Amino acid sequence: MQIKHFLKINDLTRKELEYLFERARWIKNEFKQYRRYWPLTDRTLAMIFDKNSTRTRLSFEAGMYQLGGNAIYLSTRDTQLGRGEPVEDAAQVVSRMVDMVIIRTYEHSIIERFAEYSRVPVINGLTDEYHPCQILGDIFTYIEHRGNIAGKTVAWIGDSNNVCNTWLQAAEIFDFNVHVSTPPGYEVEPERAGLYGTDYYEEFFCPHDAVKNADLVTTDVWTSMGFEAEEETRKNAFADFCVDEEMISYAKKDALFMHCLPAHRGEEVAAEVLDGPQSVVWDEAENRLHTQKALMEYLLLGKVEIK
Ligand code: CP
Ligand code: NVA
Repeated sequence: MQIKHFLKINDLTRKELEYLFERARWIKNEFKQYRRYWPLTDRTLAMIFDKNSTRTRLSFEAGMYQLGGNAIYLSTRDTQLGRGEPVEDAAQVVSRMVDMVIIRTYEHSIIERFAEYSRVPVINGLTDEYHPCQILGDIFTYIEHRGNIAGKTVAWIGDSNNVCNTWLQAAEIFDFNVHVSTPPGYEVEPERAGLYGTDYYEEFFCPHDAVKNADLVTTDVWTSMGFEAEEETRKNAFADFCVDEEMISYAKKDALFMHCLPAHRGEEVAAEVLDGPQSVVWDEAENRLHTQKALMEYLLLGKVEIK
């Protein structure tokens, strides 16, 4: 079987992603019924983390155990990667010892270099540019709550970061629209977002205009990991970009609210919204587990028959 990596959401086709959603539904149901499902017995996942994580680490590590396999967490701080071992060398060594690798790091080019030298599938657990596993879970969550996302409008408020870029790529795959509103100077960078002439998104100066009639409103931290030095400047620049009750009132009445988490109540989102009736953030976090289990199964075993 040819190695498949998951570095960007469009590394898989719409058909493959839809298969993963279907599979995740089955895997989630088995899990909820406390039924054992161990297709990855004796398989090992290496988890290389250059940045902090709660959800991504936990969902991959627990997910791998729940599928019957093993996971090894490697922080850059205590591997030779942190002392300058070339990524290409690490990739050749790590991929001779394990069956799959997930990496959370800074520039996307690091993970691309790793994948080029890897003998086994590599999964992007977040880079400065993309967060494909997040959007996999988010779209699954949308489908669970509202059905098909095609033709719907997603409003992205705040920083045009890795999560935003991945929503934009997903829009092209699943045929929905994204309305983006960022402060001046923080707009979408199409090349960095991996977009080539797509007309699936529109930028709005005023966040209320972006949210108008949206089916889903979403945001993320103003300062992503790696940008801490800009925190104070960003707090000032983003002050009008808090998703609060007034802002979300411009969306459709049944609009959902999502946030990849961790969230800062009173900054990018008001507590009343994050903890309010439109928010599905806890389902969204949980679904990282189920969708990534489907992803790992697919990357290692290919399509399995859905019972
Ligand atoms: N949403 C997300 O990726 O969370 P963590 O940073 O906790 O992994
Ligand atoms: N945009 C955030 C997402 C964290 C899950 C970051 O990169 O820090």
